[in-house]
Amino acid sequence: MGHRFGVKVEPASQVLALIGTKEGIGHLPLAFVNPGDRVLCPDPGYPVYHAGTVFCGGVPVRMPLLSQNDFLPDFGKIPAAQLKRARLMWLNYPNNPTAATAPLSFFAEAVRFCRKHGLILAHDMAYSEIYYDGARPPSIFEAPGAKDVAIEFHSLSKTYNMTGWRVGFAVARPELIAALAAVKGNLDSGVVSAIQAMAIEAFRAPAEMTDSIRRLYQARRDLFVPGLQALGFDVRLPKASFYVWVKVPKGKKSAAFCTELLEKAGIVATPGNGFGAAGEGYFRMTLTAPEERLQLALDRLAKLKRR
Ligand SMILES: Cc1ncc(COP(=O)(O)O)c(C=O)c1O
Repeated sequence: MGHRFGVKVEPASQVLALIGTKEGIGHLPLAFVNPGDRVLCPDPGYPVYHAGTVFCGGVPVRMPLLSQNDFLPDFGKIPAAQLKRARLMWLNYPNNPTAATAPLSFFAEAVRFCRKHGLILAHDMAYSEIYYDGARPPSIFEAPGAKDVAIEFHSLSKTYNMTGWRVGFAVARPELIAALAAVKGNLDSGVVSAIQAMAIEAFRAPAEMTDSIRRLYQARRDLFVPGLQALGFDVRLPKASFYVWVKVPKGKKSAAFCTELLEKAGIVATPGNGFGAAGEGYFRMTLTAPEERLQLALDRLAKLKRR
């Protein structure tokens, strides 16, 4: 994958196998965050940034991801008093739940910001290979100076459909990797070696394998999202990930609308506020079901609208 990003890393000291990205994300604060330290977390965001922080006595500080900013945080809005006590910033692109990607210029800005304020920049890139229209999302390490401050998390769960196998990896400069390895050495002793061997085989698989997974999601996206738009839902075409981030109809709340979807249309969707306060007013759907099921969901939504 280093080759794919044009980034050179030294495997023995700069890469660490993880029991899925989730494990590394949850454990990272144990290596760097002391009680009372602030951790900047995207809102809405993957809940483990928050959980890992509070488990070691850190204090999460929300960075709202708003549609008017293309779901990128505005660093200028982070309260100075919080920033002063901050140790770590989480970013996640392709993003769960908003399906946004970040341009390299944003990563360059994030690296400059983290260098200036002495923050570790932790980038969760679990969805690195799930993208659309051939628009490959960048790695944080493509930004100038990122090697000094960043740690990036990768997963085999989505790229190779190996979710249940629990394997991913982190990439960073040796000092950051050694600190996370010290936590893991005392807690889990690392990934089962047979699964590491299988992960190596997955990396050796022809590129056609991930191409075919991308084609599958693209066909689903191109069916489902225009279908939602035709029904009047306010939703952007996802650029990456297999999520669809949709505004709830005017006047309704996320949780109430998801209950309505479940009870009246038999559709399970995730309320946006479950990912943080800034997710209120949205719900998340996924493209992990076959096209027939997605079409069925569209038909049921159409029926719900006519009721
Ligand atoms: C943003 C994000 N990061 C990490 C993960 C966890 O991935 P893994 O299966 O590698 O632990 C997920 C899974 O849902 C995710 O959405």
